[in-house]
Amino acid sequence: MSEVALTEEVVDRGARLQGDVILRLSNLESSYGPVQAIRGVSLEVRAGSIVTVLGANGAGKTTVLKTISGIIDPQKGGVWFDGEEIQRRDPDWVVRRGISHVPEGREVFPLLSVRENLMMGAFTRRDGDGVTRDLERMYGYFPILAERRSQEAGQLSGGQQQMLAIARALMSRPKLLLLDEPSLGLSPKLVKEIFDIVRRVNREEGTTMLLVEQNASVALATADFGYVLEVGRIVMEDRCDRLLEKEDIKEFYLGMKGDSVRGERRWKRKKQWR
Ligand SMILES: Nc1ncnc2c1ncn2[C@@H]1O[C@H](COP(=O)(O)OP(=O)(O)OP(=O)(O)O)[C@@H](O)[C@H]1O
Ligand SMILES: [Mg+2]
Repeated sequence: MSEVALTEEVVDRGARLQGDVILRLSNLESSYGPVQAIRGVSLEVRAGSIVTVLGANGAGKTTVLKTISGIIDPQKGGVWFDGEEIQRRDPDWVVRRGISHVPEGREVFPLLSVRENLMMGAFTRRDGDGVTRDLERMYGYFPILAERRSQEAGQLSGGQQQMLAIARALMSRPKLLLLDEPSLGLSPKLVKEIFDIVRRVNREEGTTMLLVEQNASVALATADFGYVLEVGRIVMEDRCDRLLEKEDIKEFYLGMKGDSVRGERRWKRKKQWR
């Protein structure tokens, strides 16, 4: 990147971090039976920004997203979105309110075509013309989906299914997109391709994004602001450019100390979905 482009990026990032708070979690606690998965999580997401939550396996990342989208109800604390308290609402209601969730492990409908999967993402909408236009927009962002539009989603590669899951979530025209580990099990090249598109959608559509990731290097390169989650608690928060400079982050999340081979091959060792 040239120096001018870099300066513009820093200015843009600053502007995105000045927006109104569109999502606020306050002291959120969620459990699975006796297992308390998140233990008082508070965070803020500003409109138009990309915020990431980093954490290792089992830290509680997926639970945070499931609590926001209404899949599980919190025991304590609150979720405020766009001026309204939304915890304990049904997932359907949350989607209509403007939050769309790309779940961990993609979960496309394998026997439906790519186009039918995308149309499922628009189930809340009544504006047929708008849906058709958005379908074309998604094919513009993800040309491979246009090529495969009539093919069954189950026949796509892992990376293509991840693209389909993201595009499907965007078909509801969300104000906030929740992304659960989109890099999981994908090669570095595909991860880069997908995150480039995620950034483009954020810039061009103004879609606010909350991204949870174990892959800290790609998440910190993509997001504006980051939180670090350990065993259900936020232990660090800062702008991503500052997090990248912190020794703890370098050591534990970027794998820059000691075990460099592991750092390089990490994506292959992660759990695979297909
Ligand atoms: N359905 C469940 N039943 C019981 N415990 C669960 C369930 N789902 C998650 N947990 C537990 O809750 C904690 C947080 O899990 P969560 O899935 O939110 O973590 P995560 O950060 O998304 O991990 P990963 O990186 O592996 O996806 C873990 O201790 C996990 O074992
Ligand atoms: Mg998870």
